[in-house]
Amino acid sequence: MADPRLTAPPALLPLYEVPPAVAGLYEEVADCPACILARTRSRTVPGSGPVPSDLMLIGEGPGQREDELGLPFVGRSGQFLDELLDTIGRSRQDVYVTNVVKCRPPANRDPEPAEIAACGDFLERQIEAVQPRVIATLGRFSMARWFPGERISSIHGRASRAGDRWVVPMYHPAAALRAGALREVMKQDFQQIPALLAGDTNSKATRP
Ligand code: URA
Repeated sequence: MADPRLTAPPALLPLYEVPPAVAGLYEEVADCPACILARTRSRTVPGSGPVPSDLMLIGEGPGQREDELGLPFVGRSGQFLDELLDTIGRSRQDVYVTNVVKCRPPANRDPEPAEIAACGDFLERQIEAVQPRVIATLGRFSMARWFPGERISSIHGRASRAGDRWVVPMYHPAAALRAGALREVMKQDFQQIPALLAGDTNSKATRP
């Protein structure tokens, strides 16, 4: 139940064509008053890419540029994400991308547990609509949904089965921009994705 003390600014829909299967959901996101982030956002950032899609990437939350445009990963992290996708022959046009929270945390602070919980139902419904074969979590906040209590440094790049899909924890691209050595680590982790998409259950990435 939304906190009635919170008032959301007028809804601004994303600046691009929305797949019909998620149009209603994106409108709900645009009107969402369920947490304090609704007070400070410019645009909501529900997600981008085709629905359904075999590959889904889940980041943390929108930054300044994303908040301005209503699209995920359009800043520097996004440029590196595009490079990573290119190494496996994919692009934004054929990958679904979203975040655990759909509104920018002020000053790019970490999302709070209450904010992640308030957005949780949107993420569930997106996964239902997208029906990905592989989900790559980018950073510790999306990782925690499937791997609570784990450390990213211990499990990055190791795929686990979650129902009928694979979930692969990855570092966040921003971490690789801060610590250059992680760029190569992320590139290597991304190389697990094609085998998982192809249904290769003997992938080296698979946990024992
Ligand atoms: N970082 C994220 O986690 N998501 C974005 O959309 C942009 C930067």
